[in-house]
Amino acid sequence: MNIDDYFQELWRGYTEVTPQAQQIHEIIHAHNGHVINDHVAFRTFNRSPIDINSLESSFLEMGYSQFDEYIFPNKKLRARAYVHSDELQPKVFLSELQLESCTQGMQSIVDGLLENTEFPNKIDAELFLQGRLWPTIDWDCYQSLLTESEYAAWLSVMGFRANHFTVFVNKLSKNRSLDEVIELVQSLGLQMNQSGGLIKGNALVGLQQASTLADTIEMEFAQGDIHAVKSCYYEFALRYPDEQGNLYQGFVADSADKIFESTHQKLANM
Ligand code: NI
Repeated sequence: MNIDDYFQELWRGYTEVTPQAQQIHEIIHAHNGHVINDHVAFRTFNRSPIDINSLESSFLEMGYSQFDEYIFPNKKLRARAYVHSDELQPKVFLSELQLESCTQGMQSIVDGLLENTEFPNKIDAELFLQGRLWPTIDWDCYQSLLTESEYAAWLSVMGFRANHFTVFVNKLSKNRSLDEVIELVQSLGLQMNQSGGLIKGNALVGLQQASTLADTIEMEFAQGDIHAVKSCYYEFALRYPDEQGNLYQGFVADSADKIFESTHQKLANM
């Protein structure tokens, strides 16, 4: 699958569970024409064969190279960022939950899911087009994951897919400030993630980001139970040039830490 088809297919699966993303894309497109993605983010567990180490070779084959690594101790996450040789392709932000830092209880729930999963013979980037591969999770187990890691709970239900797409605000033809983009989003009646402030980061760190709160959709749990859960969100990134005039390409751990919370179940009520 070529890279454009890959991201188009990811976008299709993403908007299927994130109707707000299609709405937001349409209003930004109406004002600016073509919308370029800054990055696309993925989540996984650090268990073979689905850990970052196993997955990254296929992104490298697609023309990506790794340029940075980030640690999020509070959330027990590690992430790597990849940039493509074609700067119009989105960067890739791949994160994984460090299960060995989690409780035995949580590890056994996750391992229980993984043991009952038939993974494709070849694990590559197309894994993220597959959605949830393990059996539906029990609602009580899901609640137990939620108390320890919103990330694990999200992954157990949503499976392998794009967690979010990100509008590259610098490349918009008209609305080139985060305030303007946020105004468009809010005009649709959608809620923004306020954790750590509406806009995270500043010119000094090279990157400003904002994100919506994830959509709420009904998903199936074990025994056919249906419950409303958080699906995915949309992000907006504005990058600042360094002294040589090159846009900062990296991520800012403090900001990303708060962006992860866009899928938290309780954030909307804060
Ligand atoms: Ni992001």
